[in-house]
Amino acid sequence: MGQTNEISGMNFAISKALPAAPLARRVSNSVSSKQDAANDDGDAHALHSRLAAFNAQRLIPTAEDNAWEVGLAGEIKQRIVEERFIQGMQRAVADRLIGLPRDLQAFMAWFEELRLNGPGQNDPLFPWLAERATTEQMNWFLTQEAAGEAGFDDLVALTQVRLPTRPKLEMARNYWDEMGRGHERGMHGPMLSAAVSELRLTPCIRRTCHESLALSNLMVGLAANRRYAYQSIGALGAIEMTAPARVSLVNDGLRRLGAPTAARKYFQLHAGLDIQHSKAWNEEVIGPLVDDDPTLARPIAEGALMRLLAGGRCFARYRGHFGI
Ligand SMILES: [Fe+2]
Ligand SMILES: [Fe+2]
Repeated sequence: MGQTNEISGMNFAISKALPAAPLARRVSNSVSSKQDAANDDGDAHALHSRLAAFNAQRLIPTAEDNAWEVGLAGEIKQRIVEERFIQGMQRAVADRLIGLPRDLQAFMAWFEELRLNGPGQNDPLFPWLAERATTEQMNWFLTQEAAGEAGFDDLVALTQVRLPTRPKLEMARNYWDEMGRGHERGMHGPMLSAAVSELRLTPCIRRTCHESLALSNLMVGLAANRRYAYQSIGALGAIEMTAPARVSLVNDGLRRLGAPTAARKYFQLHAGLDIQHSKAWNEEVIGPLVDDDPTLARPIAEGALMRLLAGGRCFARYRGHFGI
């Protein structure tokens, strides 16, 4: 995304605008802070690339591995990195958990309001995608999103292990929808892959922003660790609740740009279906869990906030890329 060009462009702008005496110091400070930001960006990208590669490896079934001991040592290292990353996200949302309602009805109202006032909601990126983005810009956005997609079906499957009957049943119904109710052409994962190939996108970790990788790493980290099972439930519920508004605008943008139906099907479907999924998730998964044990409200809320914050960071990064 042109960090070097940004730095040289900034030098030029400053040299025209500032008086001569403090110029050297101001430029040097600005360049070093820009350079620091670029270094931070590179560090974050390296960290999340490694974590993304680890997660890919972690979830793929493999035959017996003779090097299991080396693999296990590497796994422990990455899981410590993952834990620190998740703890950082927890700290970032801690303020919003102060005064979280304890009463079930008040908590559910708080949770549902995240759709309107949660981090990253009503981001101007999406109306812009619907109305203004060029095909190239839309494709760049979709490539980032596809590269950062963690696979909702597998996240649900990992999260539902050993949950009580009522939430487990709703998660099974949700999973069954993800599986196209038993029909390959209705499966959501392959539907997204069809959009990617129809639009000739080539998602890859190297060209994906660290924010998009972080979003995926967060979702896998929550779903793959049982101590974050309730955060994962909150995060998945937040996706169901907030996706419809966004994907509907993405679908509008793709239609405006003349994208074929096969490329839009995934977005069109989720614009409607996730409204039902969200209602059922709140009523059958979150509500009964919190009703049974009010202390679960906090990790569920925390998971939702972390997911929305990670999404909001992606939108801000994409806007920066597009100069919106
Ligand atoms: Fe889906
Ligand atoms: Fe859904």
